[in-house]
Amino acid sequence: MTLNPNTGAIILAFFEWKDEYNLGISLMDRQHREIVGIIDELYEAMKNGQGEAVLGGLLARMTTYSLQHFTLEEQMMSKYRYPDQAQHELEHQAYRSKTAELMAKHEKSTLALSVATAQYLKTWWVNHIQTTDRKYVPYMS
Ligand SMILES: [Fe+2]
Ligand SMILES: [Fe+2]
Repeated sequence: MTLNPNTGAIILAFFEWKDEYNLGISLMDRQHREIVGIIDELYEAMKNGQGEAVLGGLLARMTTYSLQHFTLEEQMMSKYRYPDQAQHELEHQAYRSKTAELMAKHEKSTLALSVATAQYLKTWWVNHIQTTDRKYVPYMS
């Protein structure tokens, strides 16, 4: 929760971490929380009309961090012999493709980062954490 320094009013984050997103695996929870924070920063920067350099930097940070997270998660699934790993990786792959497309468009300056894009990222992560990631929890505890 953030307070407006001028008015003291509560500023609601676009993508605020909720306790219900926790899986109870601290490393995963820390990384998910970091990703949620970067997407929230990206939205704030867009809303405040920040320049393309700032947006591009945040987009790159979000992508790099997400891909590192997927790699680690996939290594953990292998280590614990999670039976639905292949299905899980398909979702990661779809996100890898989507973010590669966003980065490519941004580099060619043909991407206007929109609220719809930010909303897509938010929805993807909430669904993925709450349904797909949550399924591996019993195998890793
Ligand atoms: Fe995942
Ligand atoms: Fe995850």
